[in-house]
Amino acid sequence: MARDKAKKFPVQWVEINRQAFLHNVREFKNRLGETGLLAVVKANAYGHGLSEIARLATEAGIDWFGVHSLEEGLSLRQQGFTQNILILGYLPVSGAEEAVRAELRSTVYNLETLKALAAAARKQKKPALVHLKIETGTNRQGIALNKLGGFLSLLKKNPEVILEGISSHFANIEDTTDDYYPRYQLQNFLQALRYLENRGVKVPLRHMSCSAAAILFPETYFNLVRVGIGLYGLWPSRETLISCRLRGQSPLRLKPVLSWKARVAQVKTVPRGAYIGYGCTYRTTRPTRLAIIPVGYYDGYDRGLSNSAYVLVKGKRAQVRGRVCMDFIMVDITDIPGVKLEDTVTLIGAEGREKITADQLASLAGTISYEMVTRINPLIPRLIV
Ligand SMILES: Cc1ncc(COP(=O)(O)O)c(C=O)c1O
Repeated sequence: MARDKAKKFPVQWVEINRQAFLHNVREFKNRLGETGLLAVVKANAYGHGLSEIARLATEAGIDWFGVHSLEEGLSLRQQGFTQNILILGYLPVSGAEEAVRAELRSTVYNLETLKALAAAARKQKKPALVHLKIETGTNRQGIALNKLGGFLSLLKKNPEVILEGISSHFANIEDTTDDYYPRYQLQNFLQALRYLENRGVKVPLRHMSCSAAAILFPETYFNLVRVGIGLYGLWPSRETLISCRLRGQSPLRLKPVLSWKARVAQVKTVPRGAYIGYGCTYRTTRPTRLAIIPVGYYDGYDRGLSNSAYVLVKGKRAQVRGRVCMDFIMVDITDIPGVKLEDTVTLIGAEGREKITADQLASLAGTISYEMVTRINPLIPRLIV
């Protein structure tokens, strides 16, 4: 309902650049060669719109999706996507039957989950496909190597559960140019693979790479790579780009997929010495023309951008004045003549020779591009352009 309303009377919208997305997929596919590519579409496809990105990924020939939750997986199924879908997050025990019914693969790191999936598979006379996640040093989800035996015994007793994959995830690959920790984790993963091999357990899919690993470490590819941020045209971090250059590798040419736009809701002039917004945190130093933009922290425009970010209006920078409100920001258009009601402004994206990137906003807000884009309110319409 709310989404329909937003579509009917859009005061802000997110544009998804089809060409850019398809280009980024090609860049990764060229880098990966024979290795399979799983598109990570969790968190509303990093804020880009789950349905829209799933459609483009289908067009690009992607046959693996990574979602966080059962709900995201079911949503893709309900929309008719037939790709292999892996739940990367936590499948609640109560969701095992739904997961099996919808042929969703589950990442497993609890015996309870495995038992629930086995029961669901028996009941439905349908296999449950699982990917065991190995703890290699992130200390998030994962099975410690000395606990793996218990999972194998349970799998042996429950042949309706198919061990399709084995996975892990890097902890410190984006934040540094030092490759010590990823290599340590890779060794731990290799040890788990040897453990399985020594017991005659064959696992068709092995995967541990994210975007940064896909860009920097071919030795971590195995036969499937899970790429998120890179497909959306954003670099995992500045360090990833620097590492790439230090290694003499040619960086991927990634193109940002998302632009975020809104309309001007009011234009007004306030005198010199006027306070702007909650808390009176900005006081004008000259007669100031303001454009009021109906976007705020509810929409994902971080409150940390108060008095620091800018938007683009008529291809020029307009500084945010005062605090970011729940649903509004005020920007200074004193030096941008001709701005009128309902003119388009760009919050993320390019206009003429100027641009504002998710990375720039993230750094102003003290966060990372991942958070900046994933927090763009899902109710805002996504338009493929
Ligand atoms: C388990 C898992 N795999 C892959 C990814 C993709 O990482 P990236 O967006 O850096 O490619 C993530 C992202 O958080 C993840 O949690």
